[in-house]
Amino acid sequence: MKGEKFFIETYGCQMNFSDSEIVASLMTDAGYSLTTDLAEADIIFVNTCSIREHAEQRVRKRLRELKSLKKKKPHLLTGLLGCMAERLKNQLLFEEKSVDIIAGPDAYRELPKLIDIAAEGQKAINVFLSAEETYADINPVRLLNNGVSAFISIMRGCENYCSYCVVPYTRGKERSRDPESIFNEAKELFEKGYKEITLLGQNVNSYKWGKTDNYTDFPAIMEKIACINPLLRIRFATSHPKDLSDELLKTIAKHSNICRSVHLPAQSGSTKILNKMNRKYTRELYMNRIESIRKFIPDCAISTDIISGFCTETEEDHKDTLSLMKWAKFDYAYMFKYSERPDTTASTKFKDDISDEIKSKRLQDIIEMQQKLSLESNHQDIGKKFEVLVEGISKRSADHLFGRNSQNKVVVFQKKDFNTGDYVNVKILRCTSATLIGEAI
Ligand code: 5AD
Ligand code: SF4
Repeated sequence: MKGEKFFIETYGCQMNFSDSEIVASLMTDAGYSLTTDLAEADIIFVNTCSIREHAEQRVRKRLRELKSLKKKKPHLLTGLLGCMAERLKNQLLFEEKSVDIIAGPDAYRELPKLIDIAAEGQKAINVFLSAEETYADINPVRLLNNGVSAFISIMRGCENYCSYCVVPYTRGKERSRDPESIFNEAKELFEKGYKEITLLGQNVNSYKWGKTDNYTDFPAIMEKIACINPLLRIRFATSHPKDLSDELLKTIAKHSNICRSVHLPAQSGSTKILNKMNRKYTRELYMNRIESIRKFIPDCAISTDIISGFCTETEEDHKDTLSLMKWAKFDYAYMFKYSERPDTTASTKFKDDISDEIKSKRLQDIIEMQQKLSLESNHQDIGKKFEVLVEGISKRSADHLFGRNSQNKVVVFQKKDFNTGDYVNVKILRCTSATLIGEAI
């Protein structure tokens, strides 16, 4: 029923967060109002992630909690959105009856209809994956709300089929969004006072739009957005090493407002494992891409994703991962234990043959290596000066502000009379492995 309040909680990646903003926009356009207070919600959406088993378990626990809430509040409707929709639809809607609505990542425009169906006591479901949907015309409701940084989704889906990854099955075919709509969204955000946008896609480097005369690829869209205003910072995620071109690196180098930070998931340092993962690059090619980044953008920070204990991984392969990390001197890493996902090539063709104990032990080695590297990288910043975009008050101290430098490192410094959204030049005095601490100059 229109006028009712909806609440939305998001699990998983930045793409999911950006999707929640699209859902919030579609729902408000349909006459519902967003609430940030779960207790007063008439509809609760849970936007889900399937990437690792652990993520799914967390969501299922949450759904059980919401099911008991429904007992106390009979008119409450719950909806499961996103990546878990297709995979678990029968179980959640018909067997466990833990939700009323299920909508996959390409079905959000149908939500108002699905709500009407569910309100009549019927099962409401749409998990159809589209080859075209990009939500290009939707103006997302910004949920982060610091008024400084925002996400813009520029493409959807993935067709890389890394053998461990469920995304191609949950998010469907790769498709790029109309560059005009991306440019307008970025421009509008800047006019509203936003200072930083992150262009999002599962593999942003393969962004492409149009034919011959209006052909736009990722470096071209970056260039266009960088020219909106030098005070608008641009970030992007995620890049696939096989598609990270020198042309893109040159575009980044050319514009000081494109941030000096590249997220380049390596996943493993062993060519044998990379091949089994279907990553389509070798250790050498990955190293070549890192060398190019260093050549074109010497002050660039590089972060990565690593998976420990993929099928057939030996001690030797694991050592190759550690040595790659050390060689690349990653500034930051997201590190995971391999978790078998249904439908993937790894689950149907390979044996998950590394014990949980070994996976954990190797993950621990990887985490320790990264902590060392992050600390070393931060140590090297002591004495340097950075332009920091202020995001808010530091959680630890009310008279300190925190923000990020171009390299995406968190910088903390004394508040004085600076405000959220200001660019402040800060000299670094001290550091931990996670934070740079400095003073405004
Ligand atoms: N197990 C563990 N980690 C995974 N990732 C993707 N699929 C899996 C899986 N099955 C990690 C990859 C990817 C990041 C988003 O999640 O490192 O880059
Ligand atoms: Fe998954 Fe590979 Fe696509 Fe990333 S590039 S979403 S890891 S299939």
